[in-house]
Amino acid sequence: MHRKITGRLVIATHNPGKLAEMRELLAPYGIDAVSAGDLDLPEPEETGTTFAANARIKALAAARAAKLPAFADDSGLAVDALAGQPGILSARWAGPSKDFNAAMTRIERLLQERGATEPAQRGAHFVSALCVAWPDDHIEEVEAKVDGTLVWPPRGSAGFGYDPAFLPNGHERTFGEMTSIEKHGLPPHGLGLSHRAKAFVKLAEICLER
Ligand code: IMP
Repeated sequence: MHRKITGRLVIATHNPGKLAEMRELLAPYGIDAVSAGDLDLPEPEETGTTFAANARIKALAAARAAKLPAFADDSGLAVDALAGQPGILSARWAGPSKDFNAAMTRIERLLQERGATEPAQRGAHFVSALCVAWPDDHIEEVEAKVDGTLVWPPRGSAGFGYDPAFLPNGHERTFGEMTSIEKHGLPPHGLGLSHRAKAFVKLAEICLER
């Protein structure tokens, strides 16, 4: 049986970009979202080998520590020609200074080394795994992706992370050139384009009530 989220929910992320997106997505459901940072919760080590495993580790750790239902996302960019890299290491490729220009440059160098210059050779997808965990260890989890190609040079200054290099299929602007509503807003205001928006729709179907 799926369990519904009601009342207070901890958002188990210390990433301000993701926190802002999740707050916007949860707002219509009347959920009182508090962040792991606000509650001073420790960040667990992400020792999983999949997005789903890491989302589960973060959600369970926050639910147990806060004694509240907790929501976590693990996400990243998987590049086809690089066998899915950087994948679960997407944040780590930017290093401690969170230098995503350096991370995008590293990907571009690897693509060039492989002669991947045509859009068809530059396919990539963002993945979002979402998990809600309760203090009694009940979990609900979903996963979704958005397909696209990598452009060079990166375009646009909106969004975060790898957004400026990612051109979603069927669109002419990168995520870095889209407003947050276009990127992850849900219909009728947005297109529900992003991996997180799509995963959120799946989660809402099983865990949220308006
Ligand atoms: P996590 O915090 O371990 O899930 O790290 C995910 C990393 O993947 C982020 O730091 C970004 O580098 C990248 N990423 C995930 N989602 C997005 C997105 O929507 N746009 C751009 N980069 C993203």
